[in-house]
Amino acid sequence: MSYFYITTPIYYVNDNPHIGHAYTTIACDILARFNKLQGKKVYFLSGTDEHGQKVEKAAEINNKKPQDFVDEMSENFRNLIPNLGCEINDFIRTTQNRHIEAAQSLWSKLEKNNQIYLSNYEGWYSIRDEAFYLESELIKKNNIFIAPSGAPVEWVKEESYFFKLSNWQDKLLTYYKDNPDSIKPQSRYNEVVSFIKSGLKDLSISRTTFKWGIPVPNNQKHVMYVWIDALCNYLTSLGYPNIDNDKFKNYWPGLHVVGKDILRFHSVYWPAFLMAADLQPPKKVFAHGWWTNDGQKISKSLGNVINPYDIISEFGLDQFRFFLFREVPFGNDGDFCKNSISQRINADLSNNFGNLIQRICSFINKNCNSLIENNFNLIKEDQDILTSSKNCLDKYRMHMNNQEIDKAIKKIFELLSESNIYIDKQAPWSLKKTDVSRMNVVLSVSIELIKRSTFMLSPIIPESTKKIFNLLNINFKTLSFDNIFEINSFSQKINTAKPIFPRIEVND
Ligand code: MSP
Repeated sequence: MSYFYITTPIYYVNDNPHIGHAYTTIACDILARFNKLQGKKVYFLSGTDEHGQKVEKAAEINNKKPQDFVDEMSENFRNLIPNLGCEINDFIRTTQNRHIEAAQSLWSKLEKNNQIYLSNYEGWYSIRDEAFYLESELIKKNNIFIAPSGAPVEWVKEESYFFKLSNWQDKLLTYYKDNPDSIKPQSRYNEVVSFIKSGLKDLSISRTTFKWGIPVPNNQKHVMYVWIDALCNYLTSLGYPNIDNDKFKNYWPGLHVVGKDILRFHSVYWPAFLMAADLQPPKKVFAHGWWTNDGQKISKSLGNVINPYDIISEFGLDQFRFFLFREVPFGNDGDFCKNSISQRINADLSNNFGNLIQRICSFINKNCNSLIENNFNLIKEDQDILTSSKNCLDKYRMHMNNQEIDKAIKKIFELLSESNIYIDKQAPWSLKKTDVSRMNVVLSVSIELIKRSTFMLSPIIPESTKKIFNLLNINFKTLSFDNIFEINSFSQKINTAKPIFPRIEVND
């Protein structure tokens, strides 16, 4: 049995979920569903990051006790997941006891392995990014230093525990040399390697100036730096510190999907913590880009935050999922605008895919009494298009296994365009009068093409897939990569065709 572990970042609960959170969660859901189709056992984790100064401050602004505040906010993230059509295996919260125990165990293990020492930290800190910065990394704006992300920074001076990150520079470089596929896309791999080469300093991993965090074992004056606490969630869910249980043994290490802003934490600090605790580093970290809104950076102060619920109620859930991954190469930045989503829906889902389904199925409804007499006496044109569908499936699988979701979708839509041309040329509506047996071949091939394309699209648009398989009277659960090319030689009843992807009115 093959196992696949996939994680979203755990989301800060200082604010409400927006398109950025939805994007990562849907990406993971698509990859999880695809791996299930491949017959793998999948474990998909998401959750909330509830400690640290940023969350503590947000609770204060809202006049709430931190625990009450995080209980409330975490629910917003938990509830969003099924509303995005995502099916997770576990939702972790860093304020849960299981996590506090796991994080403290990880800390004790690092201490036991002589990876931690007590000293003093003096330098720049950004609460918004929850990150320490070197002065050389900062930008000066109107004579004030700000973080590269634009976040404010403050000078902090306090007693702190340090992790001996500097000891891991060479080991990390060797690890990445030996595992060039462990950070994707390639440009991000290069970025991380050159960051490590530029020199790693020991990392401050505890704070004393606030209380909302996991206490450091044996020194209650300190709470853990929120990132060591947060990263550990990926272990907690698998039962850490018990690494002999089946879940841990089967699933660790996994694939972490993250935004580009938090790549350094996942591909420098995290593998170093893991190796220092005698654990394997992540199998892969995939960093995706950021969405802007009509060309503008999304931020609360600009008032242009995109609420996923609004988009779903305006355009539909599968339409939203489809747009996010069809429009922009996974890994690049993307711009969200209502015109682009409308155009994508109309061009790809309504015209290309929807039309193919609608005209074939309603033709069978009207002219064949909804019953298709399967006939596979193929001629060259039929064989060619069926071969194209096989080649498409191979490419689709390769791209999806490399997290190239956009490239996989593009292949399916090339096949769909080719299928539409095939149907236009074969014109079953004319064959009805001249050659019914040939008409049945064309209809049988067309239904096969719809079946195969729908199977490939199922991780991306799962709700619509269900409707299409219902229409075709095919039990989706019985389909797999092993039997998807088996052709159905029995007569097949088609249900009444209704448009699956209504067109969207576009205002120019
Ligand atoms: N709590 C940390 C992650 C800890 S993981 C051990 C965190 N949380 S976050 O809520 O601020 O961000 C979560 C994810 O949302 C990040 O991967 C981030 O890149 C992503 N996005 C936030 N805004 C985004 C866009 N505008 N576009 C795409 N993704 C963005 O960081």
